[in-house]
Amino acid sequence: MGKEVEINNFSYYKNNLYCEEVKVERIAGKIGTPFYLYSRDCLCSHYKRFKKAFSPLSPLICYSLKANSNPVLLKILKSLGAGADIVSLGELFLALKAGIPPEKIVFAGVGKSEEEIREAVKRNIYLFNAESTSELRLINKIAAQLKKKINCNLRVNPQIQTKTHRYIATGEKGSKFGMDWEEIKKILKNKNSFPWVNILGFHLHLGSQITSPEVYQTAIKKILNLTQKEKIKLSLLDLGSGFPIIYEKKVSPIENFAAAIIPLLKGLKIKIIFEPGRYIVGNSAILVTRVLYLKKDFVIVDAGLNDLIRPCLYGAYHKIIPLKKISGKRFLTNIVGPICESGDFLGKNRRLPLSLKEGDFLAIKDTGAYGFSMSSNYNCRLKLPEILVSKNRYKIIRKREKYEELIYR
Ligand code: LLP
Repeated sequence: MGKEVEINNFSYYKNNLYCEEVKVERIAGKIGTPFYLYSRDCLCSHYKRFKKAFSPLSPLICYSLKANSNPVLLKILKSLGAGADIVSLGELFLALKAGIPPEKIVFAGVGKSEEEIREAVKRNIYLFNAESTSELRLINKIAAQLKKKINCNLRVNPQIQTKTHRYIATGEKGSKFGMDWEEIKKILKNKNSFPWVNILGFHLHLGSQITSPEVYQTAIKKILNLTQKEKIKLSLLDLGSGFPIIYEKKVSPIENFAAAIIPLLKGLKIKIIFEPGRYIVGNSAILVTRVLYLKKDFVIVDAGLNDLIRPCLYGAYHKIIPLKKISGKRFLTNIVGPICESGDFLGKNRRLPLSLKEGDFLAIKDTGAYGFSMSSNYNCRLKLPEILVSKNRYKIIRKREKYEELIYR
């Protein structure tokens, strides 16, 4: 069960790193560093593999825009049938711009503003995943004003240990996300106070980069049991996401998660939604950077924490490899950026070829998810360009920012 094979479109050919059929160094020479480089095939393969794994449930797959909202990538995912999981009007705007139909858009988040709710209702999105009684009241009020009945799921906090980084665990006791079962029961008992809201079911997002399929089983069983006990009619279950990718250590393939989840839900006549972000886009990009200086224990490169904040913020591990494969002796070093903070590292205690020189290029792997989307202008650095490779061609899908844009935005 479960293919162990990783989808990989970045590999060496004659000692040079290629993205699909394009030599990465060629792009670096043309457009300069740093930049994000995506493989179209890698993105599509992940989406298709996810869809296939869960096909017995025929779920609606709402790609989570927060992982990466590049308009060109969104259009590709839309063409494969993806819906969208959004958390802001910016994401709603981009999802609609990409042509994703409103009836495939779901809106999550603990702090939706009145303006956001009103606009999303006007745009006829499919569903709000409501996170509190107060939010539900506001949705009901806006729906009444606009005379539109609105679909809502109640986000449950199942209070389950997930063993992921504490910043991205969302289903544990004490987390700000969702509602406990007492609050859910109260809402359902007072359903009549929300006449403009169709409560369809529950939303259950446990966190991100969750490596154990059993965690999903525990959470789903818990919800199904409670639902049965209270005789609640459940027509929709949005299982959120959290599906992991390989950064450093191997993780269970997506098929194992599907095998754990499907038997619990098949045949129940409940519509299922998933909101994958990282799994779809995480492996499909590298961040290409250039070595500026070699200095004692450090390799100083031209990408920093403003371009990729994951190592600094979560202590996240990303493999770092040279664009030119060099065999022979290695040295132990720290790969750091130019930002004025000691937290500005991309990799600590890494082995790189002893013959690495200033001016050489490195690739920081698996940076498609929460890479560009979490980048900033810190230190007044320009946002990076994004390049998309498809077979033997590449195109710029986001230009490098210009200095004028630091003023006029
Ligand atoms: N649905 C909801 C309600 C979410 O909050 C998230 C992620 C997703 C779906 C997508 O989850 P994924 O498939 O990516 O696991 N910046 C962090 C990750 C934050 C995740 C926030 N919510 C990181 O770089 O690891």
